[in-house]
Amino acid sequence: MELRQRLAEHLPMFGLEVRTPRLLLRYPDDEDALALAELGAMGVHDPGTQPFSILWTSVPPPHQQRNTLAFLWDQRSTAQRDDWHLPLVTVVDGEVVGTQGVLASSWTVLRQVETGSWLGRAHQGRGLGTEMRAAALHLAFAGFGAVRATTGAWHDNGASLTVTRRLGYRPNGDRLAVREGEAVVMEGFVMDRADWEPHRRDDIELVGAEAVAALFGTERPPGS
Ligand SMILES: CC(C)(COP(=O)(O)OP(=O)(O)OC[C@H]1O[C@@H](n2cnc3c(N)ncnc32)[C@H](O)[C@@H]1OP(=O)(O)O)[C@@H](O)C(=O)NCCC(=O)NCCS
Repeated sequence: MELRQRLAEHLPMFGLEVRTPRLLLRYPDDEDALALAELGAMGVHDPGTQPFSILWTSVPPPHQQRNTLAFLWDQRSTAQRDDWHLPLVTVVDGEVVGTQGVLASSWTVLRQVETGSWLGRAHQGRGLGTEMRAAALHLAFAGFGAVRATTGAWHDNGASLTVTRRLGYRPNGDRLAVREGEAVVMEGFVMDRADWEPHRRDDIELVGAEAVAALFGTERPPGS
């Protein structure tokens, strides 16, 4: 039996896949983790811009790659019933091209997820960011029975804001936050289940989502 399958018997996230016509999201094994760490070190954004709150892309090699691996392994060991983070990798034609994270705190009470993502620079601007966020929302709402998804981006992150707005989120205010020592506007968005339903896709396939939902303390609700 393949290592991923053996791991999935104990840690169901290793059996999780979200398949769309254009891409696949899956839980990273060590090969995927290495591919993602190496992709990130090749560049995620113009060095003159800063799309992230945590300045992980400014860390020089080999530390950036180590940090990415440590982050992914940390999520593996700390995913708990109520507080979890699925740092899924985005795969196109067998190649890891980026990551789409889905995370939650106090999940069994709130049923609310947050998302975060990036693509290698060579893979940006071709619609993959929109497709992978749609895939993550499908996993959250249809697979896990989420009632709300939230997201945010700096006011000058045009690509991320465009993806968010086209998928049906509602603006729910902005706030000032520190970015590289300066006060910068972070725009916040929210999507309730009723906002997502009109955007619901019928061409996204979930594999193994029920076992992961059970791990997190929620069975997939009937009809979701
Ligand atoms: C954000 C990100 C994941 C989006 O993925 P993507 O594949 O580039 O996004 P898409 O191609 O699906 O859509 C982006 C849209 O934003 C538009 N866009 C790009 N730059 C823009 C700008 N400065 N202002 C307004 N719109 C912009 C694109 O034209 C595109 O719209 P279109 O399809 O109508 O042409 C990706 O760009 C990325 O990894 N960026 C760096 C990391 C990052 O910002 N992560 C998110 C942190 S909140």
